[in-house]
Amino acid sequence: MVEVPETLRHVAIIMDGNGRWANARGSRRTRGHKEGVKSVRRVTTTLAESGLEYLTLYALSVENWVKRPRPEIEFLLMLLRRFLIQERRTIMDNNIRFRAIGRVHEFPDSVRKELDHLTEMSRDNDGMVLCLALNYGGRSEILDAVRSLATKVRDGDLEPDALDEKILRGELYDPDMPDVDLLIRTAGEMRISNFLLWQVSYGEIWVTQTFWPDFGERELEQALRSFGGRERKFGGLAQKVDA
Ligand code: FPP
Repeated sequence: MVEVPETLRHVAIIMDGNGRWANARGSRRTRGHKEGVKSVRRVTTTLAESGLEYLTLYALSVENWVKRPRPEIEFLLMLLRRFLIQERRTIMDNNIRFRAIGRVHEFPDSVRKELDHLTEMSRDNDGMVLCLALNYGGRSEILDAVRSLATKVRDGDLEPDALDEKILRGELYDPDMPDVDLLIRTAGEMRISNFLLWQVSYGEIWVTQTFWPDFGERELEQALRSFGGRERKFGGLAQKVDA
């Protein structure tokens, strides 16, 4: 269990460093990914038990999908499929609602079937949402939303002047996803890497040098404590400042 600050609804994590974790041990990158799955399970259950509302994990980007060697992608898809089957119990026991965002229609049927199954199976749970970003890109998400809105305008179902942030948000992959409050990135890089670009606008960023397979409760506590000590202004003035 970790203590989730009251104002923290949505944690999003860029799980980086599986390859470096494996290299440092003279192992193949695939071993890093396998260990990475254990961290996914650990972090998901800890945050679900702690009462967090929404957790999004960046498991595969659109860039990974086209730029990584095919065998590595095949391996990740195999791990994902296995995860979706093996974790059914953990998801249900922890009252977690599962969902996926991204261009998953490009995935093989065997993986899509398990994604649909777990989404369907867990849809009436009312605990934490676990959202996996798969073949996901923040720009693609916005582009897909704009395409859908353009179609509505063309068909006379939407006036361009009526378009506002709320309507655009309604076309994102998961319209119910709250804004990201805390973005965690492992393995040291100070980048957003095309993750949840719309939702992360006012997110607090916390980066650790720890590689994803070593990420655990200690790092989570540090991140949550850091979040708890920050003053969020959303473009306004600090609360304590007099006008
Ligand atoms: C980044 O490490 C990690 C990924 C591209 C994949 C993330 C996948 C997992 C954590 C495991 C699969 C997840 C599920 C839910 C089954 P990297 O390989 O880019 O590391 P590097 O930057 O050190 O090379």
